Amino acid sequence: MSAKIISGTEIAKQIREELKAEVAEIKEKHGVVPGLVTILVGENPASISYVTAKQRTAHDLGFHSIQDNQPDDIKEDELLSLIEKYNNDDSIHGILVQLPLPKHIDESKVLYAISPDKDVDGFHPVNVGKMVIGEKCFLPCTPHGILEMLVRSGVETSGAEVVVVGRSNIVGKPIANLMLQKREGGNATVTVCHTRTRDTAFHTRRADILIVAAGRPKVITADMVKEGVVVIDVGVNRIGKTPEGKAILCGDVDFEAIKEKAAAITPVPGGVGPMTITMLMKNTVQAAKQFAGIE
Ligand SMILES: NC(=O)c1ccc[n+]([C@@H]2O[C@H](COP(=O)([O-])OP(=O)(O)OC[C@H]3O[C@@H](n4cnc5c(N)ncnc54)[C@H](OP(=O)(O)O)[C@@H]3O)[C@@H](O)[C@H]2O)c1
Repeated sequence: MSAKIISGTEIAKQIREELKAEVAEIKEKHGVVPGLVTILVGENPASISYVTAKQRTAHDLGFHSIQDNQPDDIKEDELLSLIEKYNNDDSIHGILVQLPLPKHIDESKVLYAISPDKDVDGFHPVNVGKMVIGEKCFLPCTPHGILEMLVRSGVETSGAEVVVVGRSNIVGKPIANLMLQKREGGNATVTVCHTRTRDTAFHTRRADILIVAAGRPKVITADMVKEGVVVIDVGVNRIGKTPEGKAILCGDVDFEAIKEKAAAITPVPGGVGPMTITMLMKNTVQAAKQFAGIE
């Protein structure tokens, strides 16, 4: 059996079409254009490519979008003042600070300075708390994208054994939390593995749905999964460069071997990545609508 490939690229395209129509409608009916600022500190090549992709998508969707580049040696209080400026700017509905930040800047302080109403990354503790309780909020983009992929691919999550490998604040913990909630794409029985888990393979072999966000190339091998599993591979590992200098990417699972056992699997690239960016856009549209009092 060869797995169905869950294409994040295709699902993201579908959601972007829906968003484009929504952007046109709120512009026409309410005179509001969703505004997104992405703040980049320094010149980390991976961060530059993420921010460029976010800006390109925002532009394609008809957003008012600003790319704000700041030098590596910007002082923490200067960055906080910049965020305050955008918090008070009515043409901006979403603020994204690209992580990681240089070591001399306290990341939490910066993320907490973003108004929860403009926190389209969903990292502010107000939004994290609301998410855990199950209240309406900005969901973090990667876990939100994973949920959308599962729902739109018709994967049954209710009653499923879900195993998450990784417990980071941006992927592992929130996706585990969302999948156990009483809602569409939830109602699962969730296990979370990390580096102190005694026998990760014991858990991954039980999974009906396996979500891997370990940041280790091909750490999940075919002997660690059961026949018919649905695999969501969040990992993005740069394992080399093409002769043209383009990064060669691979996920956290051994895609070629596991696709022969799985019912469905996401590729890397073209899986979770495009969904993450798209959910950022969805959150920005939501922020603009809330600003305009539409919902
Ligand atoms: N496609 C996207 O849009 C997107 C978005 C975000 C992240 N990512 C990618 O997803 C990956 C994970 O990102 P992250 O930010 O969540 O990473 P992270 O903060 O480094 O967390 C990795 C987690 O995996 C656990 N882990 C590592 N090796 C393990 C192993 N062998 N067995 C079990 N658990 C293991 C770690 O456990 P401990 O807590 O015990 O250390 C940690 O909880 C990275 O490759 C990242 O680039 C992709």
